[in-house]
Parts: sequence; C-alpha cells; structure tokens
Amino acid sequence: MDRNLALEFVRVTEAAALASGRWIGRGEKNAADDAAVTAMRGAFQSMDFDGLVVIGEGEMDEAPMLYIGERVGRGTGPQIDIACDPLEGTTITAKGGSEAIAVIAAAARGCFLAAPDMYMDKIAVGPMARGAIDISKSPTWNLQEVARAVGKAVEDLMVIILDRPRHADLIKEVRAAGARIRLISDGDVSAAVATAQPESGVDILIGSGGAPEGVIAAAALRCLGGDMQAKLIFSSPEEIARAKTMGITDQDRVYQLEDMARGHVMFVATGVTNGSFLSGVRFSGRGAFTHSIVMRSETGTVREIHTRHHFDRKPRYGW
Ligand code: FBP
Repeated sequence: MDRNLALEFVRVTEAAALASGRWIGRGEKNAADDAAVTAMRGAFQSMDFDGLVVIGEGEMDEAPMLYIGERVGRGTGPQIDIACDPLEGTTITAKGGSEAIAVIAAAARGCFLAAPDMYMDKIAVGPMARGAIDISKSPTWNLQEVARAVGKAVEDLMVIILDRPRHADLIKEVRAAGARIRLISDGDVSAAVATAQPESGVDILIGSGGAPEGVIAAAALRCLGGDMQAKLIFSSPEEIARAKTMGITDQDRVYQLEDMARGHVMFVATGVTNGSFLSGVRFSGRGAFTHSIVMRSETGTVREIHTRHHFDRKPRYGW
C-alpha cells in the first residue's frame, strides 16, 4: 500500500475533527456526528483511491453516508478498504469531555473483519503483554498473565473498563483480583491505544464495546505492536442473521488481532476533544489547530502532525 496515502488520510480525519469540533459541549451528539460524517465524506472525495467502506456509520438503510459498502475516493488508484469512525465519542463531544477522535484505518481489500454493528468482548494490551492474553479464560487469569509479562504485581496494573451496568461483575472480579481500574464513560478506541503507550499508565482494556470500534482498535494495535482478542456478542436472532449476511457463521469464534486487521494497515486519527494521546481542536479567529497521529504496521512508524488551518484559504466541509 502506498505509504503516502496515510498522510493523505490525515486531511480526512482533520476535516471530520474540525467539523465536529464546532459541536463540542453543545449537547447535540447527533449533530456532532452528522457534521463529522459529512466532512469526512467530502474530504474522501478529493483523494485518488478506490475506497470501499467496510466499517462505517452503519448499514445503508440506517445511515445515509459512509455506510458499509459505500465507495469513497475518486475511484482511481489503489483499491483500499476503509474502517472509519468520523466521530468516535459522540456523547463525549456533546458533553465536552475527553478522548473524542476522528479516525480512519485502511488496508488492502479484504484485510478487515467485516464486523456488524453489535457488541464485542475485547481484551487489548500493549507490546510487552503480546501473547499473554486469552479471552476464553477469566479476567483474573488474564490479569495475572499480563502482570507477569509486564513485570508488575497485579496490584500495580491499571485496567481500563467502560463504565456500564453490564460490566458490574467484571469490575467486581478485577477489584477482587487486586488490580486498579480506570472507568471511562465512552471511547474504547482511545482506551485500546492507551494500553500500547507506556506513558498512559494503562496496562489492559477489558470488557464489551462496539464491534466496529474493535476492528479500528485492532488496526491501531497492529501498528503499535500490541495485542488484542475479541468475541462477538450475539444478543438477538436478528444479529445472528445480520452477521451471516456478512459472512460470520461461527458465533463462538475468538478473533485474534490479525483476524480483525490483516496485512499492512494504516491508522490515522485527529483529536476532537483533548485526550491522553491527542489534543483536541482549537479554533483561533479565522482558523484552527489540530493534532493527529499517523501509524503504519509495515514499519511501525508513528508520526504526530500538528496542523495550522486557515479557513480563508482552503476548501471547507461544513465547519
Ligand atoms: P459513539 O461514538 O458512537 O457514541 O461510541 C462511543 C462508544 O463508547 C465506543 O467507544 C464504544 O465501543 C461503544 O460506544 C460502547 O457502546 P455502549 O455505549 O452502547 O456501551
């Protein structure tokens, strides 16, 4: 895959971040999401590639734009599959919280798990704990193995978990095992990335969240050398049927990192609100500043891009 594409994709995540950045703290998560989607879609159309959305804003009848199966880009150039979340953290943005990002993962055709919009159980860790996780075993077992791998006592581990009633038993077990917990309101893509960044102080992400977010997180962890396992959670016959139409027939399958994001993958994100690895959008008179990250699994290179935007001199996608 052309390495320069990753840098081109930054323009796309920047556009989505700038558009949704206008909605920070306004209490309107759908408007923030719509703004990000429109901007991302518009920015894709100026790129020379033949893109296919495999993880997007939903299926065609649910989401008017960036739906699964939508073609993006000018249709010329390399064939690329796109897993995107124009605004990961809609509620975060509406409330002016932290860790909302605009994100794209890209790979050659067929390299991403085509995950339906349903829940997925996930365990994610950084490079030191690669190979030390097993989602079919208990949280306690995983904590002990991760602690051994990173050379810490279980008591010193920081576990990140989405703060949801469905995680009550998980939280109880993690506390009983002796580990510490950071409960987050939303945003498990950023949380998964945090496990692979030593300065975050986070060792492991456990619990269920969106399957599309899981695939995007897997792409990030491929680039960062971390590890992840996941299992889809089927909660209705409709979900089973929908998954079948996307080629998923084994409901008990454990997905390894490479089952979710194969081959050479790219991960590009721009901060919408301030977070642990990206600063949020800052507007300044007639322009704005954005902070983005660009990573490629082939080389493991991680670039941070600080951009100064001048709104009177560039195309705008709704901001
Ligand atoms: P949105 O950006 O769509 O609001 O998703 C945020 C998020 O917290 C994800 O990071 C996470 O995977 C999912 O929602 C969890 O779903 P739920 O809020 O239903 O527990």
